Amino acid sequence: MLRPHPRLADSRVTIHMAASLDGFIARKDGSVDWLETSDEFAGGETLDPGVAEAFLKTIDCYAMGSRTYETALRFEAQGLGWSYGDKPTFVLTRRRLPRTRDTVEFYSGDLAQLVNGRLRPSFRSIWLVGGSVVSAECLRLGLADEVCYAILPILIGEGISFFEKLDRDIALHLAEVKAYKSGMVELRYEVRGHRGESRGAT
Ligand SMILES: NC(=O)c1ccc[n+]([C@@H]2O[C@H](COP(=O)([O-])OP(=O)(O)OC[C@H]3O[C@@H](n4cnc5c(N)ncnc54)[C@H](OP(=O)(O)O)[C@@H]3O)[C@@H](O)[C@H]2O)c1
Repeated sequence: MLRPHPRLADSRVTIHMAASLDGFIARKDGSVDWLETSDEFAGGETLDPGVAEAFLKTIDCYAMGSRTYETALRFEAQGLGWSYGDKPTFVLTRRRLPRTRDTVEFYSGDLAQLVNGRLRPSFRSIWLVGGSVVSAECLRLGLADEVCYAILPILIGEGISFFEKLDRDIALHLAEVKAYKSGMVELRYEVRGHRGESRGAT
């Protein structure tokens, strides 16, 4: 068991992904072409680019599984850019993968050791951006403080679930709901009763 570090109380691990209404983050073959939707919700908020940029600056580092990293590399190769700016990006893998920038660091081993031993002592806002395997492991190990679930206005029928199988129920507290003009609804939940403490819903 890892001993809590003094910075543990400050830091926040957020699982953040977008999914179809039927709960899939990618098609079975890993494709995410359906993320571009064409809906319009008249009562929704517009995502102001300045506000979005300011928000992204509050994220201190990213962590992800290797398959999510490979999708990011494919996007980059297609000229769609790198989604994680100049922030440190930790990639979980047991393989040797190409490293296209200095901000990328590979890690293999215990996820709890990475999060509690390495990330929490150094970073305040830690974003775990998928995929399904790593997000589920993060919840199973009680490492996540919150889950941000962006629902897109589409059903894709089958694919990779938001969370690979969990072995128990995980109680959540709904902290924020935002609906956007694009038809996307973003739900932010706090994870209750994780890391041994008892958490109320307030
Ligand atoms: N819609 C969205 O917002 C969203 C977000 C993220 C991802 N996605 C999509 O979801 C798919 C990927 O999700 P996924 O669940 O299949 O995979 P993933 O979680 O991205 O990656 C899983 C892989 O990470 C490596 N790994 C996991 N834990 C590890 C550990 N403790 N130590 C070392 N390596 C570890 C293993 O691969 P190795 O073989 O490399 O060891 C494992 O197979 C992609 O298609 C991606 O595009 C969508």
